Amino acid sequence: MSAATLLQTSFSDLKLVRRGKVRDVYAVDDNSLLIVATDRISAFDCILPTPIERKGEVLTALSEFWFEKLGHVVANHLIASKMDDMPEPVRQHAQTLAGRSMLVKRAEVFPVECVVRGYLVGSGWKDYKRTGEVCGHKLPEGLQESAKLPAAIFTPSTKAEQGHDENITEDQVRDLIGAEQTALLRDTSLRLYTEAHNYARERNIIIADTKFEFGLDQNGELLLVDEVLTPDSSRFWPADSYEPGRSQPSFDKQFVRDYLETLDWDKQPPAPAIPDEVAKATTARYLEAYRLLTGKEL
Ligand SMILES: Nc1ncnc2c1ncn2[C@@H]1O[C@H](COP(=O)(O)OP(=O)(O)O)[C@@H](O)[C@H]1O
Ligand SMILES: [Mg+2]
Repeated sequence: MSAATLLQTSFSDLKLVRRGKVRDVYAVDDNSLLIVATDRISAFDCILPTPIERKGEVLTALSEFWFEKLGHVVANHLIASKMDDMPEPVRQHAQTLAGRSMLVKRAEVFPVECVVRGYLVGSGWKDYKRTGEVCGHKLPEGLQESAKLPAAIFTPSTKAEQGHDENITEDQVRDLIGAEQTALLRDTSLRLYTEAHNYARERNIIIADTKFEFGLDQNGELLLVDEVLTPDSSRFWPADSYEPGRSQPSFDKQFVRDYLETLDWDKQPPAPAIPDEVAKATTARYLEAYRLLTGKEL
């Protein structure tokens, strides 16, 4: 278990290659990266100044759980998550990093976010209302908001360095990475989602949609990379209160969003702090997602 909350890391002896909204990524050597999940939380695309205790730990443990569970579908980038198995420069910072870090194989990441949707929500719902389609998939008429789709669909998007990702069609993915790799990423993404969805559904969580990233290792082998099926990369809904025809409460961030909506904040950075009880309730939701999905306490 990690010792305390952590909003940001900086280590003079490790090279920072990227600071994302939630994770700090370091280069360990030519072949491996260290991905550190902090306790940062974002809402409405802004990072809040308040940490969510144990969030980094939940994201790390959940990704590890899914890597293991879905390992028969595709290989993944995980090398180690226990401090004892990490190289010395990482172990030196064990106090900060334990429980929230993954040593991973560095991959050549495909420039595509492999989104899979099983339900009609978010930008998918918006596009459907306007055009009857989502990313080139023609859907039946008369579907309601949050409806379960007849079958999950692959709805890729660009990986924007800045700003928002943009939905693209499978044809556009083919232009980017070729037909063969496109089919491989699509089929693998659909298999991963379908298996995870069915598993989670039995445990009272609906995985409405999710985003995978893939890369090639040095030998050209396909790897599932990044984080996998966490509340940050997916929409989790409590299955008990699921009801099509309206938007669904989000499993993890609903308290944060609800609180922020009561403020007179224009949703531009800097984001306001959230009260202690809202942060605590959010920690409880992350832990509950972990417990429901894995059947274990973290
Ligand atoms: N195995 C890997 N090899 C190379 N890059 C990776 C690997 N796994 C994840 N990444 C990249 O690391 C970055 C993680 O940053 P992240 O904190 O998710 O940023 P963001 O806020 O943009 O989501 C992403 O750009 C992802 O593509
Ligand atoms: Mg990310």
